[in-house]
Amino acid sequence: MILVTGGAGYIGSHTLVELINQSESVVVIDNLQNSTELALEKVKEITGKDLTFYQGDIGDAQLLKQIFEKHPIKSVIHFAASKSVNESVSQPLAYYRNNISATVTLLECMAQFNIKNIIYSSSAAVYGDPVYTPMDEAHPIGPITPYGKTKYFGEQILADLAVSDSQWNIVMLRYFNPIGAHHSGLIGEDPLGEPRNLLPYLTQVAIGKRKVLSIFGQDYNTIDGTPVRDYIHVVDLAKGHVQALNLIQKQCGLKVLNLGTGKPTSVLELVSRFEAVTGQKLPYQMMPRREGDAECCYAAPDAALKEMSWKTELSLDNMLEDAWHWQSKNPNGYN
Ligand code: NAD
Ligand code: UFG
Repeated sequence: MILVTGGAGYIGSHTLVELINQSESVVVIDNLQNSTELALEKVKEITGKDLTFYQGDIGDAQLLKQIFEKHPIKSVIHFAASKSVNESVSQPLAYYRNNISATVTLLECMAQFNIKNIIYSSSAAVYGDPVYTPMDEAHPIGPITPYGKTKYFGEQILADLAVSDSQWNIVMLRYFNPIGAHHSGLIGEDPLGEPRNLLPYLTQVAIGKRKVLSIFGQDYNTIDGTPVRDYIHVVDLAKGHVQALNLIQKQCGLKVLNLGTGKPTSVLELVSRFEAVTGQKLPYQMMPRREGDAECCYAAPDAALKEMSWKTELSLDNMLEDAWHWQSKNPNGYN
């Protein structure tokens, strides 16, 4: 049985579907600070299976103990965190409390119950400004924002734990840019308020909720002047967690792995593929650079292939089709 923290969120909900499809039993804990229980209802609809849900905070040691007493949890997949880069700059302490303190509480409770298998959601944000591309796991570390630092400090805490006790099996996954939605159109990304990330903003423009997409920067040293990223289908990303569980079952010790496609895509390339795939004309305007944006960031995903036989299967067109299917089927997200 697997405990999934933050399972009602964007990546968590897609991962639940893949876990349940592989016949794993799952228990979810989520405080719904950035999600809704409706996502879990949709997961049940997609899979035709039930799941156990606790609405609560991973910083609540009493609740975690109740869960570990009641369910024979073998491994934890730890998604629960605050993830807004911007908000982390204005509210660093809230980010350190939620992403670091609460993670320490979770790890302490796991250790008490002798549960020593964990998959941790890290981010390409730990690398900071790219020094070379594609970026492998040996790329220098240098997170710029409090959010990126919380992800890196989380990695460091786990690494120290692995040194202190060799029974721990820890897979830290550094995600690049997850986009897209489940093919059913029943679950997807549903940001609160005005989206900051490219895809949700773009699909909200396409559906008519927002007037125009601003493209931040056209003077980068890239194929067409706009920044380059490694967009990865959220379903491929979710499947990476199933593979990571298999890796943990082999008593893997500590591993850190990139999850990306290895394929660079510029903002303008993505916009033009979106128009081609969906037939939607997308109004956009060129704007100055957004502060803090890297020029070019994409993964070397070879280690994940070697260590856990995982590579992406879905194309950029699949990502855009599925993102559009979700947005057009649910113009107001889960509401
Ligand atoms: P999300 O906000 O959709 O999901 C996170 C979930 O955790 C939400 O349902 C939220 O309510 C819950 N949560 C937050 N704090 C909690 C707490 N203290 N107790 C219980 N539940 C809590 O985010 P996501 O995009 O699904 O991201 C999942 C993980 O992946 C995060 O750790 C994030 O840092 C990491 N990540 C995300 C991206 C991305 O672009 N989406 C990129 C790299 C890494
Ligand atoms: N962009 C636009 N217009 C928008 C939104 C974004 O042009 O309205 C551009 C950005 O300038 C950037 C690209 O689209 O060039 C991607 O931006 P996102 O905000 O979607 O993603 P980021 O690469 O900035 O951030 C992502 C995750 C973070 C993580 C970071 C580093 O959202 O959590 O990657 O790995 F920290």
